[in-house]
Amino acid sequence: MMYYELDITPRVIVGADTRTRVGQEARKLGFSRVLVVSDPFHEQAGRTDEIAHLLNAAGLEVSVYAGVTAEPDTEIVERGLDQFRADSCDGIVALGGGSPIDTAKTISVLAANDGTVRQFMGTDAVPELGVGVIALPTTSGTGSEATRVVVIADSETKLKMSGRSHAYLPSVAILDHRLTMSMPKPLTAATGVDALTHAIEAYVSKQANDFSDLLALSAVRLIWNSIRHTWRDGSDADARQNMLMGSFQAGIAFSNASVGLVHSMSEPLGACFHVPHGLSNAMLLPAVTRFSVDGAPARYAEIARCTELADSSAPDEECCQILIAQLLQLNRELDIPSPKSFGIDETSYEKDIEKMTNDAAAAGSTANNPIVATAEQIQGIYRDTYTG
Ligand SMILES: [Fe+2]
Repeated sequence: MMYYELDITPRVIVGADTRTRVGQEARKLGFSRVLVVSDPFHEQAGRTDEIAHLLNAAGLEVSVYAGVTAEPDTEIVERGLDQFRADSCDGIVALGGGSPIDTAKTISVLAANDGTVRQFMGTDAVPELGVGVIALPTTSGTGSEATRVVVIADSETKLKMSGRSHAYLPSVAILDHRLTMSMPKPLTAATGVDALTHAIEAYVSKQANDFSDLLALSAVRLIWNSIRHTWRDGSDADARQNMLMGSFQAGIAFSNASVGLVHSMSEPLGACFHVPHGLSNAMLLPAVTRFSVDGAPARYAEIARCTELADSSAPDEECCQILIAQLLQLNRELDIPSPKSFGIDETSYEKDIEKMTNDAAAAGSTANNPIVATAEQIQGIYRDTYTG
């Protein structure tokens, strides 16, 4: 018999212009003063103003905190928490990609629990549910609006910490794909392959269950069939909506089934050479897949079949080879650089391989990969990845 627990965002609103529902949703949650958490980009683009007006129109008071940067750290969270308290807020609206949403979820937990960010990292370390968070994603990548996961860096040690708890789930996710339409090509590519990686890694994870499988395969299909369209033509609304839904489903899948070796290895690569998360995943996905297929050939084959890359009657081994070739091809089509063409010097890369390998081997998701890689194997994958 199977046993598992599921954490899922309890309320989800999907469709064009559904961001206009934010005031109504905030009222339903009993908010009266809202902290809008976002970043300078969305503030300058007038997006935080739009959200503030929508909240004001519903009779709510608003305080805007647009100080979130990429890869947010404990200081960014603490500043937001100070503003939340100083302005007597009682609810949060997050607008942006994974960084603002993760920051908002962490502020929410700190607003309701005594302690520091560090204390609430790790697994199930949060005693009380946080204050309500309404998440409005503007990228189709992290799936943070769907997950029980946050990633926050320690501002002193610079190390990234991750928290996994039911308390990090938003109360409401508003999936308005119009918010994602202005993403530039490189961001569309990197966040899209991040979402694809979530779906693939959740499906082949040792922690997968029949519910996460359902969403992981659906997400693979949605993302595979739309990622090139959104990259070529960012104004294709149907493709943008499919990507946002795919990223949301992939988020639920990996939040409940774990990611794998791509994420374990991409974290140190990003930390050593300042490669954005989605990009470092994309760089590693083909080589990690090549390494992992023998651990779950039927599952990888199913991914190739469900996207119609391979014929439904093709044997597993053939499907796996097609999948690996197609992942390499996708990177080429989306202009995803290799570590080399990204500008990482070969000597520095070689010098840091040992440190990256140690960090990757110690990461929690390494054990959930279909094949648990040894340090030597991880080093080999980093080397294979360098030139793409
Ligand atoms: Fe990711």
